[in-house]
Amino acid sequence: MKKFLKKILLTGGAGFIGTNVTKYLVRKYPQYLIVNLDKLTYAGNLTNLTDIENQPNYTFVKGDILDSNLLNRLFETYRFDTVLHLAAESHVDRSIESPGNFVRTNVLGTVNLLNTARKHWKNPEGKLFYHISTDEVYGSLGDEGQFTETTCYDPRSPYAASKAASDHFVRAYMHTYGLPVVISNCSNNYGPYQFPEKLIPLMINNIIEEKPLPVYGRGQNVRDWLYVEDHARAIDLIMHKGRPGETYNIGGNNERKNIDVVEKLCEITDELLGRSPAGISKGLIRFVQDRAGHDWRYAIDTTKIKNQLGWQPEVDFEEGIRKTVRWYLNNRDWLKKVTTGEYRTYYEKMYKNKGL
Ligand code: NAD
Ligand code: TYD
Repeated sequence: MKKFLKKILLTGGAGFIGTNVTKYLVRKYPQYLIVNLDKLTYAGNLTNLTDIENQPNYTFVKGDILDSNLLNRLFETYRFDTVLHLAAESHVDRSIESPGNFVRTNVLGTVNLLNTARKHWKNPEGKLFYHISTDEVYGSLGDEGQFTETTCYDPRSPYAASKAASDHFVRAYMHTYGLPVVISNCSNNYGPYQFPEKLIPLMINNIIEEKPLPVYGRGQNVRDWLYVEDHARAIDLIMHKGRPGETYNIGGNNERKNIDVVEKLCEITDELLGRSPAGISKGLIRFVQDRAGHDWRYAIDTTKIKNQLGWQPEVDFEEGIRKTVRWYLNNRDWLKKVTTGEYRTYYEKMYKNKGL
């Protein structure tokens, strides 16, 4: 095998954030080997990566993080020094429907990966297990305040509970076995390649198709939106400069009410599609039954990563949302492809449940 400066096992690289991070790292670091391990669930899409699939520093392996034999083989073959762990079940609504999948992949899968790293990394020197997590582990904020790295964990959805459990295991492996770990907890990402079950791409897809736009409750819940390329830069920085044992919160400094996001998407998508007047799609908005246990507000205090690592988000919401809508409009084949099959069954059921 060619000599690489770093050998990275990246899990979940065919998903939304994984795709963006994989492309970013493969292009920026030809001297690093990136092995993308992904099970290709409904959320993983190999065609996302066709433009880098032949790069000499990139390899794809289809497989499950719960498969210990496979993980052992990969660690023996590639002698990884870094794990970037992104693979997860990631959608809150699905976690409400079937929490078991979230326990299996997010909790047991993470523990399996930790066990494998521990077994193969007898000498922790130069090794790093980097776990990518969410701000949802901190629970729900009222109208004031922000999450910091010392906010107590208070997960409230099955998804958040499974990610909180995985974070605890990652820290426990550091304290108990001395595994060098780092964790980042970030806010809601948006951008190219996000599966259209999450708010922003779901709404863009429905606006294009002139379908109802289901806004939960009265649309007053607040999320802090982080453009996925800003997240990729933060991950790059933490992987290189983050202190083992530390946690870093990553946020977009872009708090928005859901209804404002949806209305903005209507205006931009209509404008780019030449619909007149721009914003006419707001007529598709339907306020539907609220999500069970719907977290009110998330907001991130980014002081630590700013002061210690010099990172801050560069893409403001206006710019990011325009880039995102443009990407979906230019990639309608991708949207068509991922919204057939299993997706259709899931969504027909969901829409029926919401009376749409
Ligand atoms: P995603 O659902 O788009 O992608 C997840 C990927 O993991 C898919 O490619 C899927 O095939 C793969 N996967 C799932 N189960 C697997 C298994 N058992 N073995 C191997 N691969 C498996 O998710 P995303 O939005 O890209 O999120 C990536 C990570 O970032 C997750 O850990 C998520 O919790 C975290 N995160 C996401 C957000 C967000 O806004 N999307 C915010 C904070 C944190
Ligand atoms: P989502 O993208 O599922 O991310 P998360 O639940 O992890 O924050 O949802 C973002 C916000 O949008 C959340 O407050 C729920 C809301 N939402 C809707 O109002 N309608 C929808 O169809 C979806 C998917 C989400």
